[in-house]
This record gives sequence, C-alpha cells and structure tokens, in this order.
Amino acid sequence: MMTETVPVERKKHTLTTLFKKVADHIPISWLTCYDYPTAYLQEKAGIDMILVGDSLGMTILGYEGTLPVTMDAMILHTQAVRRGAPNTFIVGDMPYMSYQPSVETAIRNAGRFMAEASCDAIKLEGGIEMCDRIRGIVQAGIPTIGHIGLTPQSVAALGGFRVQGKGAEQAKRIIDSARAIEEAGAFMILLEMVPDVVCKLITERARNCIIMSLGSGPNAHGQLLIYHDMFGLYPKFKPRMAKVFGNAGEVILKGLTQYVNEVTGHTFPQKENYFTMPEEEYKKLLAII
Ligand code: KIV
Repeated sequence: MMTETVPVERKKHTLTTLFKKVADHIPISWLTCYDYPTAYLQEKAGIDMILVGDSLGMTILGYEGTLPVTMDAMILHTQAVRRGAPNTFIVGDMPYMSYQPSVETAIRNAGRFMAEASCDAIKLEGGIEMCDRIRGIVQAGIPTIGHIGLTPQSVAALGGFRVQGKGAEQAKRIIDSARAIEEAGAFMILLEMVPDVVCKLITERARNCIIMSLGSGPNAHGQLLIYHDMFGLYPKFKPRMAKVFGNAGEVILKGLTQYVNEVTGHTFPQKENYFTMPEEEYKKLLAII
C-alpha cells in the first residue's frame, strides 16, 4: 500500500511559476490523470500540470465519448487526484452541459471545481462562441483555460476525431478564436490536433497566454498527452499523435493471465500469501466447535 501523504519534493506550481517557465523557455509538461495512485506517481515524476479530463468517460468509464460525464463524477475524481498530487497544478475539465447553457451555469460549476476539489484552474472547450463564459469565469476570479481545435464534446458536429484547421479558412477561424479567448482573459489555451504551423502562428502571436499542444506539434509552450494512450491502457484505439512510453497494458495483462494460471494450477497462494494460527489455539478451537 502507498502511504496517504506525498513527500513535499517541490513547491506548488502557480500561474507565476508556469509563466516563469515560459519566460525561461522551459516547456511545460501536462498529463491527464483521474485517480489517486496515478496522481502520486505523476507528481513524483515531476509533471507540472494534471488535467482531470472528461476523457475519463472513455478511459475509465468505458463510454464511446465524453458526453455522459457529470459534474459530480468530475469532482469525485478530481478530489482523488488532489489527494495524490498536492503540489501539482491541477486543472478541472468542465464536462458537457456544465457551461454551455449560460454564463451563470458556467460560473457556478467552475466554482464547484475550485471549492469542492481544490483545483488550480478549469478548462472548457470552444472558441469565440464561448468567450462570454470564459470572461464570466475569469471575472469570478477563477483561472481559465480555453480548448480549441478538436473539441471532443462537439465531435458529432466536427465529423469525428480528426485534425482541425488543415484548410486556410478553418485555420484562420482557429487563430481568431485563440485571440478572442486570450482577450476574454484565459491564461492558457490548449490546441488539440491542429497543424503544427497553425500552432506555431498562435504561439508566436500570444501576448499573455500560454499555448499548449496536444498533437499540434512542438511549437507551443508545452505538451499534453492522455495518460492512458501513453501506457497502452486504452483498449479501443491509440491516436496517431500519442507516443507509447511504456506498455503497462501488456504488463498488466501478462500478470493477470499468470494469476489465473496460478490459481487454477494450485500454485497460488504460497505460505507467504496467507496467515496461520498457533497449533495450540487451533486444537482449542477444534475442541469448542
Ligand atoms: O478530457 C480530456 O482529457 C481532454 C483532452 C482530450 C484535452 O479534454
């Protein structure tokens, strides 16, 4: 069992330390995470930021997409992540319909993330059309991240999980959205699956906004990956952009198969895997039952 408390190995990241990394040209590392033990390991490894993404609908809950994920589920997972990574900058991902209906809904749900799950920031999907929500949340004092390019909550409208902004017109709309989101007060923008040159243009034009890339190339201030894609833990597909840093899925499957074989073959458990009682006590027990 892991211990409940994590040794404090670094100071907690803040907006100031993240902007300092950008000023020092040190790329920011960002990963998704949904549970306590993984958060513990990510903090130990020195990951700068964690996204408790609504991708948990797919990676953890097994849905086809992210739409069924609720605010309550997001809060529960984010609380677990916070317990595992007390010094990491944690971003709560606003789930479907937690911000789309109105500015007020958006502020209330962003507030729940901050108050109930101790988030450092929230993220929401959408471009120019979501700028009033971003402005409202920022005015409520909550650090806010925009997410454009491929936005999984609108995957039906976008025609599937595909690169966004390959044509000049669409690329211009993404660039315009990035500018509008920055002007609405977001301190960071995530670009998901846009061409590298579009990411480069947005990064070069950003004034006071950190640009992060997910499958959008190296010309951003940092990188985000989905943890389950990095370690072979999502069985349905692996996006082309995701590098596998280790095949944990394969290791776990091998271990599980061995367990089945050892149980059925009577080689598990061994003496060290169970408990006995003193012979005397056993005799007494037999006499009284
Ligand atoms: O939910 C999530 O993990 C995300 C990423 C796909 C960026 O929003």
